[in-house]
Amino acid sequence: MTKMLENVKKLSLGSRRRPAKTLLMGVGLLIGLLAVIGCAQGSYPLDIFYEMHYQKSFKAHEPPRLSVPQSAVGWFPAPKATSFTDDGQHLFQVNCSMCHGQNGQGDGPVLQRMMNVYGYTPVVTPDLTSDPVKAMGSLGVEGFMTSGLVVMPSFSKLMTDEEMRLTAEYIVNCLQGVNPQAC
Ligand code: HEC
Repeated sequence: MTKMLENVKKLSLGSRRRPAKTLLMGVGLLIGLLAVIGCAQGSYPLDIFYEMHYQKSFKAHEPPRLSVPQSAVGWFPAPKATSFTDDGQHLFQVNCSMCHGQNGQGDGPVLQRMMNVYGYTPVVTPDLTSDPVKAMGSLGVEGFMTSGLVVMPSFSKLMTDEEMRLTAEYIVNCLQGVNPQAC
């Protein structure tokens, strides 16, 4: 009887150890897996977190964005639409008029502030109706849009070739008055 009890004890000990080993191996594998996932940069192949802040319902409760800095320049009239259709005038108003002015004469409020508050002096005239700009034609204007110039940003990654062409043609045809019928 005692021998039998001993045997039972041995058996139960043995069978108790085995799940412990399996558990250890399991935990080891899980840690390994987490380490691999954690080291993978940028994206999670396996989503193991509760990414609450990505959820739309959660986003709705986010506090409002920071207020606009005091030095920001408000520029009106605001564009009528946000879609970029084949409208050179619209493209000019959205992308250029804050510096070059509504009529392209280089008197936009952003450039005014750069000059009056920050003491910037343009390296060439920002007046797009001036003789030098008239002389360069619409291809010349497109060239400046592509390259940018000192404080003027390059638009090559912001606008398509077609949008740049339409903007340049609007400047030449309508603001310089080369072909007013096209406006
Ligand atoms: C951040 C202000 C700013 C914006 C936006 C801007 N420009 Fe300019 N642009 C300037 C300034 C300032 C100059 C004069 C060169 C200088 O000092 O940077 C200039 C120069 C130019 C010139 C050359 C003028 C010359 O006398 O040779 C052309 C052409 C031109 N801009 C077209 C455009 C067009 C088209 C857009 C819109 C797609 C645009 N710019 C947007 C500020 C701006």
